[in-house]
Amino acid sequence: MKNNKTALITGCTSGLGKALSVKFAQKGYNLILVARNEDKLKELSNYLSQTFHIKLVFIVYGLEKPEAAEYVFHKVQELDLKVDVLVNNAGFNEFGNFIKTSREKEHEMMYLHMFFVTDMMKLFLPLMLGNKQGQILNVGSTGSYISCPYDAVYAATKSYILSVSKGINAELKGTGVTITTLCPGSTKTEFAAKAGMEDTLLFKLFVMSPERVADIAYKALMKRKTAVVAGIYNKILVISSYILPNRLVDNLSKIMLGKQHRAD
Ligand SMILES: NC(=O)c1ccc[n+]([C@@H]2O[C@H](COP(=O)([O-])OP(=O)(O)OC[C@H]3O[C@@H](n4cnc5c(N)ncnc54)[C@H](OP(=O)(O)O)[C@@H]3O)[C@@H](O)[C@H]2O)c1
Repeated sequence: MKNNKTALITGCTSGLGKALSVKFAQKGYNLILVARNEDKLKELSNYLSQTFHIKLVFIVYGLEKPEAAEYVFHKVQELDLKVDVLVNNAGFNEFGNFIKTSREKEHEMMYLHMFFVTDMMKLFLPLMLGNKQGQILNVGSTGSYISCPYDAVYAATKSYILSVSKGINAELKGTGVTITTLCPGSTKTEFAAKAGMEDTLLFKLFVMSPERVADIAYKALMKRKTAVVAGIYNKILVISSYILPNRLVDNLSKIMLGKQHRAD
């Protein structure tokens, strides 16, 4: 089922990005895959091109670098490719008590989640507007809606993604170009283990599969929704955070994210 459209997906070597890459390949999209692990990119590219008979290129780059969006944009121009769908999915979590977490890692996280995503939209949107069509999927989190103890900087970067995406999406009304923000809750990927948070209650309860989340994301993107929270449990979580008193939400978040990070 070829459709002659191209999707650029960041952070596709594992988890949600990999599931999204499979989803877009199944739907006949040609792909531009971006991440750091070259071996995994090669392996995924071979699998997808052979299984789904799509055209595929990959770009190896650390997207936390200040010039990363320009690098990716120029690579795409050099390859003479047109991006119909842009998926800003790459991300990670520097988890723990704020006074103990790494400042360097937090800077990388802020660059990757905020500067890179913003720059990618700045660079690719004019081309999409010129074509009068295009779709952007930015990956936020339930943390986009709820400030999280022991995960404060991560949640703040994800709030930024939701806020900037909604604002620009409203500016784009009537242009044929839309931005959808996906807000997943705990999802069974490498994310929790990399952040050392796999033993938290959050990652023991109601964990969704990346394939299910990718399915929800794809449908919301095609319906050109502004934002989607993945799964009923996560929707209840987000709505509750607006209804319940702040102190109760903070205490519940502490229980979900573990007490082992106390400053003392
Ligand atoms: N899993 C969850 O519970 C959860 C919940 C809410 C939101 N999210 C969000 O979902 C997105 C995907 O995460 P995931 O759960 O699929 O985690 P994952 O399995 O750890 O995958 C993260 C992907 O991002 C890439 N990446 C990380 N840092 C990068 C960098 N500096 N430059 C380039 N690529 C980088 C990784 O590839 P390389 O290492 O090859 O570069 C990998 O492909 C993230 O934005 C995350 O914040 C996840």
